[in-house]
Amino acid sequence: MNPFTDFFSRLFGLVRRHLILTSVLVALCLGFTFFGFWIGFVQIAVLLIPIALIAWALVARRIEKRGESSGMSEAIAVCSYIALASVATFALIQAVPYGKDHTNPDNYNRQYEPNWDSAATRDLTVRACYGCHSNEVEYPSYSKIAPISWMVASHVSEGRDALNFSTVGKSSNVGRKLGDAVEVIQEGSMPPSYYTHFGKHPEANLTPAEKQQLIAGLSATASK
Ligand code: HEC
Repeated sequence: MNPFTDFFSRLFGLVRRHLILTSVLVALCLGFTFFGFWIGFVQIAVLLIPIALIAWALVARRIEKRGESSGMSEAIAVCSYIALASVATFALIQAVPYGKDHTNPDNYNRQYEPNWDSAATRDLTVRACYGCHSNEVEYPSYSKIAPISWMVASHVSEGRDALNFSTVGKSSNVGRKLGDAVEVIQEGSMPPSYYTHFGKHPEANLTPAEKQQLIAGLSATASK
């Protein structure tokens, strides 16, 4: 047997002998992926899945060495380890400073917003875009908790870099920037789907009519 097929036949042997353990790990990996998808930060799954796989391999090897039988009690033991490790990890990551500072810049006023064509256009923009593209971001209480805090901090910082409605009026190319905004709304790429899926941020989930109104309003504002 070549080393490649040898590796896989050993792996399948392990999987077959530890079916319950493997099911738990698969469920866990799916859970991580879903959690990442739900918060709009799928990368978190890429970080967590290798940890789960390494845990699986270590536990399976230890059981093999001891010659214990695989079964329910083993799965329960592993679940408790994983639960403990998850709680510990969760507590530890709260100490990471990144994402703690959820504030809006001081000393700014609305004078640098675009020269809105109407109050209605501003209202729609606030609902759909200000969560990431403004100096008036409203941070919900759960946004202080890592890893959600990391995701919020990175979206707001990237969002503001791309377009900040609170300061865009200062820019020499307001028209082009608002034109870009119209384009991404037309394409349906903004607000990002992760912001509104699963019923999150219902205020940003514009009806088709509101979307058309926002497109028309931003176009009018851009050409003012
Ligand atoms: C959940 C946060 C979030 C919301 C809400 C949001 N955006 Fe964005 N937006 C981002 C991020 C992050 C980027 C930069 C990365 C990217 O292009 O995906 C971005 C990029 C952009 C860009 C630059 C695109 C490019 O190709 O360079 C435009 C224009 C934009 N957004 C407009 C809008 C408009 C208009 C709305 C409201 C209808 C909106 N966004 C709502 C997060 C958000």
